[in-house]
Amino acid sequence: MTTPGERHLKGEREFVALGASQEASLGRRVFAYGRGCTLVDVDGREYVDLAAGTMTQSLGHSHPEVVEAVAAQVGALTNVHDNPTPQRLDAARALARLLPEHLGAMGFFTTGTEVVEAALRVAHASAESGRTRIAALRRGFHGKTRGARAAVQWDIGTEPPGPTLLGYPAYCYRCPFELTYPACDMLCARLTVKQTIARPDVAALLAEPIQGAAGVIVPPREYWEVVGKACAEHGVLLIADEVLTGGGRTGEFLASQHYGLAPDLVTLAKGLGSGHPVAVLAGRPDLLTEATWGSVGGYSSTFGGGPVGLTAATATLTVLHRDDLVTKVRELGLLLADELSAVADHPLVGEVRGLGLLHAVELAGPGRAPNPTAVDRVFRRALDMGVRVMPGGSVLRIAPPFLIEPDELVDAVRRLGRAIDQVYREDAS
Ligand SMILES: Cc1ncc(COP(=O)(O)O)c(C=O)c1O
Repeated sequence: MTTPGERHLKGEREFVALGASQEASLGRRVFAYGRGCTLVDVDGREYVDLAAGTMTQSLGHSHPEVVEAVAAQVGALTNVHDNPTPQRLDAARALARLLPEHLGAMGFFTTGTEVVEAALRVAHASAESGRTRIAALRRGFHGKTRGARAAVQWDIGTEPPGPTLLGYPAYCYRCPFELTYPACDMLCARLTVKQTIARPDVAALLAEPIQGAAGVIVPPREYWEVVGKACAEHGVLLIADEVLTGGGRTGEFLASQHYGLAPDLVTLAKGLGSGHPVAVLAGRPDLLTEATWGSVGGYSSTFGGGPVGLTAATATLTVLHRDDLVTKVRELGLLLADELSAVADHPLVGEVRGLGLLHAVELAGPGRAPNPTAVDRVFRRALDMGVRVMPGGSVLRIAPPFLIEPDELVDAVRRLGRAIDQVYREDAS
């Protein structure tokens, strides 16, 4: 007897294009609904969602206040191009309350990639003549369209990497110079300055303050002190891509705030709208002018700034602000780090790292050899145990909703620990 899930997967194979994410193609779960931190599949199995959708569900799945607001908006108005709406002003005000003051202007979009593209257009349009190039960091991720993809060095499809100048992230666990912090004197930051920011042809540095897709690379504070200061000194715009980290995920509304960074432009998406497509480019008001979009209407798009997505964002940000969830993220983050420290010395684990409710467990073999095969197996084993995390290369990422109960978090992380141990023991026996 086949299960409803198996019948569904067979049906999808007939129609749906290949190219799904690592977690979808490995997991092969057909999710039916989500409530809070729990997902339920069509076969009735439950999972604690330590990936929060795709780090979108900061308030968990189907938060009642978001559902109610969105349902009312769907019944009232869903699209009027980019005309002014009450929903747009409400969302802007809700965001302004949480963003640093200098990021006083905002443009509204639908996806992370779209907002990164917008930031790049602003960077090019506002650059002095001769400053034609964009700098980015190795291992960064910014999206899959041409412009964003040009800043991504690793393989995410058939196109070759673009012409972006690449600096070095502070990936201390795999330091390309085989140095150790702090004795390294932040060579990665200094080379990034020398090889990218200090060049006279660079318009902007596009970078994640904490690299997410790369496996949660949390730089030491000095890294951004050196790089941020150099951007200001050399007149290079700093675009903080906070599509993944923005919205409170790391224990500040923006990850930039951990480093005292004042980026000129910030991109936000995943955590803003409880899973609805809404993205924001926030920036210095003098940068987000009609001139930088090229022409009147230069930043509008069919769905960008739609009232339903913006309503979801306002509802999400209102709860985040009212219930001081960013403080809660910091507290739960300490608990998560503490629980994960129990697996840090496991022979299959290379390193555990993270900040707030964004952590990673990197699996490695002898000599720190990356171990993506073990990641695939642990990911599947954890799913079988009712815990969903996010696999990527040799890293498992853990990013639960902010409303997870401490007991539930502890229990799920312990189950993940058992999954790691089981996979290890199978290989050892
Ligand atoms: C830092 C960063 N920028 C951009 C993107 C692209 O966002 P989207 O998938 O919404 O286009 C992502 C997606 O994971 C991201 O993590």
